[in-house]
Amino acid sequence: MANELSSPGNRVDFYAAAEIPRSVRADLYDLAVIGAPVHRGRYPKTLTAWVKRQAGLLNRMPSAFFSVSLGILQDDPPVRADIARILMSFFRDTGWNPRWFRNFAGALAYSRYGWLKRRLLHWISLKAGRPTDLYRDHDYTDWSAVKDFAAEIDSNPRSAAPLTTAVPSDDSHDQECL
Ligand SMILES: Cc1cc2nc3c(=O)[nH]c(=O)nc-3n(C[C@H](O)[C@H](O)[C@H](O)COP(=O)(O)O)c2cc1C
Repeated sequence: MANELSSPGNRVDFYAAAEIPRSVRADLYDLAVIGAPVHRGRYPKTLTAWVKRQAGLLNRMPSAFFSVSLGILQDDPPVRADIARILMSFFRDTGWNPRWFRNFAGALAYSRYGWLKRRLLHWISLKAGRPTDLYRDHDYTDWSAVKDFAAEIDSNPRSAAPLTTAVPSDDSHDQECL
């Protein structure tokens, strides 16, 4: 996303969601694009706390949110409802209403996980009815949808008004599915 939004006219600063420094202020920027992975039914605490503190500023400027999860790959209505609930709770708890938001499928990066995480994620893939090979990584992100989202953000008028509603979209899982 940072790469997509970078251009000679756009300077992009990038911070990892789980480690965003307290000192970063949204109003130093013309646009804020925030992405976060769902981990055990929630977004990283550091990011949630930062968004809560900055919500007043974020609501007065153009801002976007993208959620990354594996549940979004499943056609199971309760799982999709759960992803919608996680998203809605995040917006409600932080008081932030981004102009744009989108759901993307993430990855199973088994090679980066310790024993416990590997088992947990493997169990999630089994639960989804699509067991995965533990000995390689799996990328489910539809990168063309990511590009499209970046283009949508970049080409729209820079207003702060929310455009979309917090319902998980079906547009992020064209690739390999769990
Ligand atoms: C410890 C852990 C817990 C996760 N919990 C969930 C979950 O509750 N629901 C879900 O849909 N995806 C879950 N996922 C999948 C992640 O959202 C997905 O793998 C994402 O790409 C992880 O991004 P990251 O590598 O930046 O952490 C979990 C992943 C990890 C590693």
